Formats: sequence, structure tokens, C-alpha cells
Amino acid sequence: MDDKSLQVIDERVQTWLRTLDEMIPNLVKDMQLSTKQNRYDLVTNVDRTIQNDFESFLHEHCPQHQLLAEEKSNEDINPKRGHTWVMDPIDGTMNLVKQQEDYCIILAYFIDGQPMLSYIYDYPRQQLYHAKRGSGAYVNGKKLPTPPHIPLQEGILSFGAQFVNAETLNDLFEAAFSYRSIGACGLDSIRVIKGQFAAHFNTNPKPWDIAAQFLFAEELGLRMTTLDGEEIDFTKAGPFIISNSGCHQEVLDILNSKGGYI
Ligand code: IPD
Ligand code: CA
Ligand code: CA
Repeated sequence: MDDKSLQVIDERVQTWLRTLDEMIPNLVKDMQLSTKQNRYDLVTNVDRTIQNDFESFLHEHCPQHQLLAEEKSNEDINPKRGHTWVMDPIDGTMNLVKQQEDYCIILAYFIDGQPMLSYIYDYPRQQLYHAKRGSGAYVNGKKLPTPPHIPLQEGILSFGAQFVNAETLNDLFEAAFSYRSIGACGLDSIRVIKGQFAAHFNTNPKPWDIAAQFLFAEELGLRMTTLDGEEIDFTKAGPFIISNSGCHQEVLDILNSKGGYI
């Protein structure tokens, strides 16, 4: 795809994302909650309406493009071929329900498996993070700098502590400067992207939790791998880390040396 066509898609998607500013307050005011696999696995009308609206947007503007998204069946698509969008309509649904804060929309565009455009929209803070292949990463149109080198002993580490075995957890707490977790994979990743956190890992993310992070990592010189240090298949996801290059190996060494994770 030439740069002009990519630019047109990028502008349209950014415009679509900003239409959420009108949509979300009304949906949140009349929030309807349901559970999926268990009482902590939540979905709301906000998630479903945003995803349906983006699906309609794609049908109208890019009818050949496929959508791999959390709140739909993805059986009929072949995400590694052609034009694929991956979407988490609300990442951090539990935060939305319990706090009405710290949630985001994750969206990423792949052509033949290569990430081309990425978005993480922190709607509550009105910050739209965006990356375009070969052009860098931006927040609200302002270019993001490459984060400085962060050694683990100087950095904040983020992960779901309940999924890490006791001995390993202790070693991670001792090695890092400190620990924080926002509870939305996209926003925890954004802190790494901005150089605020040294690393964020998730032991069981789905494709939509990490779809946008590939391009941000590539454009900003961050490491994004499985927890064994291998390349991640964006259609399958699984254990993942996004990390400053100053501590990637050290986090993985600790994670894989004793009890490890669940
Ligand atoms: C979840 C959040 C959470 C992470 C989970 C995800 P959801 O996404 O990103 O931080 O720990 O693995 O499933 O369900 O709110 O879209
Ligand atoms: Ca998610
Ligand atoms: Ca979600």
C-alpha cells in the first residue's frame, strides 16, 4: 500500500475514534453489565456498541478489510492474509465498571501480518496514542520520543501479581525499583511506551490486548516478545512482555529461573 492510501485510512480512523467522545458518555450513563465465562469476565453495552460501530465503519469505508475483535466470533477470518484490523473495544472493562477510569480502546491494522497503523485511545484522559509504520509514534499529534535506557533496578515493573508464583514474585519485587499495575493491558503498555514504566508483562493476553503494541514497540526501539524471548504471533498472542531494552533480558531471566508464572 502506498503512503497516501495509508494516510487516508489513518485520518479516517482517527476521525472515527474521536466520534467516541460523543458516544461514550451516553453509553456509560446507561451502562448495562453482563458476565461471560465467570463473574470477573465482564462485558458492557459500551464494549459492544463501540465494536459494532467500528464494524459498520469498516463495511462502509473498507469493505474488503477483516475484523478480529474480542466481542465477536472470529472463526470465519484468516488474519494473516490481506487487510486485518484487531480491536479491543474496551480494554480494562473492570476499571470502566468499578471506577469509570483507566480504560482504553485498542485498535491495530495489519497488512499480510505486518503492523501498519496502531491506536490506543485513553478516552478518560483524552489522549490518543497513534503509530504509523516508518513515521514514529504520537500522542494527540505530538511525536513521542524514544524512551531512555531504564535498568530494572531504576524502573517500575507492571504485571498481574496474582499470576506469578511466590518465589519469582519476591525476586521481581527485589530486582525492580518498584511495582505498579493499572489493570488495562493497553494503558500499562502505554506507560512503557512513554518511558514511565520499565516493563509490563501479561501471562495470558489475547490478540486484541496486545495488537497495537507491536508497532509502538517497533517505532520506539522497545522489546516486545513472548516470556521466553521469542517472537509473538499476533493472531494467537499468549504470554507477552513489552519492555525497555535496558531490562528486558533481566526480567525474563528472573521470570524463568524459579517458580515462574501460572
Ligand atoms: C484485560 C485487561 C487486564 C489484563 C487482562 C485483559 P479486558 O482486558 O487488559 O489488564 O490483565 O489479561 O483480559 O477484559 O478488560 O478487555
Ligand atoms: Ca483487553
Ligand atoms: Ca475488552
